[in-house]
Amino acid sequence: MALTAIIEEHGGPDKFKLVDRDVGEPGKGEVRIAHKAIGLNFIDVYQRSGLYPMQLPHAMGMEAAGVIEAVGEGVTHLKVGDRAAYAANPPGAYSEKRVMPAAQVCPLPDGISFEEGAAMMLKGMTVEYLFHRTTPLGKGDTVLFHAAAGGVGLIACQWARSEGITLIGTAGTDDKCQLALDHGATHCINYRDGDWVAKLRELTDGTGVDVVMDAVGKDTFEGSLNALKPLGMMISFGNASGPVPPLNIGILGQKGSLKITRPTLFTHIADHDTCQAMAKHLGEKVLSGDVKINIGQRFALRDVAKAHEALEARQTTGSTVLEV
Ligand SMILES: NC(=O)c1ccc[n+]([C@@H]2O[C@H](COP(=O)([O-])OP(=O)(O)OC[C@H]3O[C@@H](n4cnc5c(N)ncnc54)[C@H](OP(=O)(O)O)[C@@H]3O)[C@@H](O)[C@H]2O)c1
Repeated sequence: MALTAIIEEHGGPDKFKLVDRDVGEPGKGEVRIAHKAIGLNFIDVYQRSGLYPMQLPHAMGMEAAGVIEAVGEGVTHLKVGDRAAYAANPPGAYSEKRVMPAAQVCPLPDGISFEEGAAMMLKGMTVEYLFHRTTPLGKGDTVLFHAAAGGVGLIACQWARSEGITLIGTAGTDDKCQLALDHGATHCINYRDGDWVAKLRELTDGTGVDVVMDAVGKDTFEGSLNALKPLGMMISFGNASGPVPPLNIGILGQKGSLKITRPTLFTHIADHDTCQAMAKHLGEKVLSGDVKINIGQRFALRDVAKAHEALEARQTTGSTVLEV
């Protein structure tokens, strides 16, 4: 039996129910993993609220780290006793243990703790694909990154610094801006204090940035397009402030032949080998010290509703971990 957080209907954090569930044995291509730490992500909020609808009832959570307890037929990259971590569908990580498909479960290097593993897989593999698999990016390029003091944000700041990329962050308070700067952002603008697009234009001598990475969505989308250089790339990868309204594609021409993409991690990790390679690359970045995983707050698994409240109220910084 394993304590598991489920929802039976979409809604607020009060919809979480803690249940004891039978876990069972892994089938073909599956593993059973005993969680040591669980990661919290904004996608969990979208799934809980119904912005990303799910068939209910359903267990929740997309990211965790732990120890492999049993392996099903055909699983060759993991064995019983291995340390492992994952960001993967289907939701169900908010649990003491679970049975799940093995393809996206990755070995966790010895030098990375379970907490770090749980705090880095979804957010770090996202940064990996944003910087290496979405648009050509290299030394000297300038990226605007919104919510730079968040879970994905603090990893992105450090990743950019390690690749010689100028990252201009935004964040909702001056303290959060300082945190982003401490993690490698070249500049950070408090976007709740005045005209952030004008400030960004000043910082780039009026030219704008090569790439925008925008997961705030509704509140920043239009400003993000205005912050780009001609031929710049808009990567819209989330909606923390609400979904982006429908786009008149002609706007991209008017603003200077802009490009736009709306990627998700789950397309990138769908292929087993690609997923394992992304996790390995992330692990190397962490082990080398280029990226340190900042765990800003911890909650007990039983307090998952409080963790969601804090994330939605913009009270968290860095990654949030649920302790098992
Ligand atoms: N597409 C993908 O593959 C993918 C993968 C991972 C994450 N994401 C997206 O990346 C974003 C960051 O994820 P995360 O888990 O690391 O979360 P997070 O950045 O730790 O938290 C979200 C942050 O967004 C900012 N925000 C701005 N307006 C907000 C609002 N109205 N309500 C709540 N927050 C608001 C807040 O920072 P400030 O107070 O500084 O504004 C908040 O701390 C999310 O949008 C997530 O969905 C996308």
